[in-house]
Amino acid sequence: MAILVTGGCGYIGSVCVQRLIQRNYDIIVLDNLNTGHKETIDPKIPYYEGTILDKELLNRIFSENKIDVVMHFAAITTIEESATNPSIYFNTNVTGGICLLDIMRKYECNKIIFSSTAAVFGNPKYTPIDENHPTNPVNSYGSSKLMFEQILFWYQQAYGLNYRIFRYFNAAGATEISGDNHHPENHLIPNILKVVLGIKKEISIYGSDYDTPDGTCIRDYIHVVDLIEAHILSLENWKANPATTYNLGNEKGYSVLEVVETAKRITGHPIPSKISDRRPGDPPVLIASNFKAKKELRWRPKFLSLENIITSQWKWQKRNYKAHK
Ligand SMILES: NC(=O)c1ccc[n+]([C@@H]2O[C@H](COP(=O)([O-])OP(=O)(O)OC[C@H]3O[C@@H](n4cnc5c(N)ncnc54)[C@H](O)[C@@H]3O)[C@@H](O)[C@H]2O)c1
Repeated sequence: MAILVTGGCGYIGSVCVQRLIQRNYDIIVLDNLNTGHKETIDPKIPYYEGTILDKELLNRIFSENKIDVVMHFAAITTIEESATNPSIYFNTNVTGGICLLDIMRKYECNKIIFSSTAAVFGNPKYTPIDENHPTNPVNSYGSSKLMFEQILFWYQQAYGLNYRIFRYFNAAGATEISGDNHHPENHLIPNILKVVLGIKKEISIYGSDYDTPDGTCIRDYIHVVDLIEAHILSLENWKANPATTYNLGNEKGYSVLEVVETAKRITGHPIPSKISDRRPGDPPVLIASNFKAKKELRWRPKFLSLENIITSQWKWQKRNYKAHK
């Protein structure tokens, strides 16, 4: 089976490529290296550098390879930036996605696995958040992802597209090769570890007066390897159901202060922090229900503890100090 991985040089996409190669799948990677790192993928893997918006390039990829499934990770993903520059979010995450779906139709490739996000939910009405929770994104990033989810639905109805949507909560942790690494870095764990490595002076805690036990926001962290295992299970058990959506998290939340304290214990280093204003649209608590993924995919996450997750990123980040600077 040949799989096109878009965004395969990114944090999560590269882990997917590594895990699929271990299972002997044929992989083709498309990435424009906007935030990706080419060195994270094996140089032997067929690789096309360019954007999902480039229809000629897409045509070349599909004419040169018989692609059975697309795993679509490519996206622009920074929530803060999406508030000030929504244009690039809708352009890449929606228009780019349509370019991909239309080339798939042309070449009769009718399976896609799409990386969506907890940001489609907006401020939760209840937790843990299950797949039936109402969607009401509060930023253009979440809105662009929800739009593409809806486009998948209509392509399924009209053209018989098969799809799986995975809504990730907070992907975290690292493999030997790939760690959470973005420029600028907006994720809490790598930012805390930057403080430990002396790259940042202190960690900003956005709001300490939320209605949570210690006043800081609570998030559900899922190890990137567990997250990809759910994708591979869905790939290998593509049942009659043509289309479905899963939330992916550990169903357990940790506050910002708990993450900082855990990182202090693991690294043995002080982590100075400062309390900043709340960020607009940051819900107090985001925890996924993973009941459906566990039941239907028989998904069994292995890296459940925050210690494991932070330790893997810490090992990776120490080794890749320069890349992360
Ligand atoms: N990291 C998380 O916690 C998280 C949470 C929810 C959802 N997601 C989703 O998971 C996916 C992967 O996220 P990530 O954290 O690995 O991000 P990332 O930025 O590390 O990876 C995205 C990859 O897509 C590539 N890309 C961007 N625009 C492209 C384009 N126009 N054409 C081709 N390639 C392009 C980038 O170069 C990069 O390699 C994204 O779709 C994101 O929305 C991530």
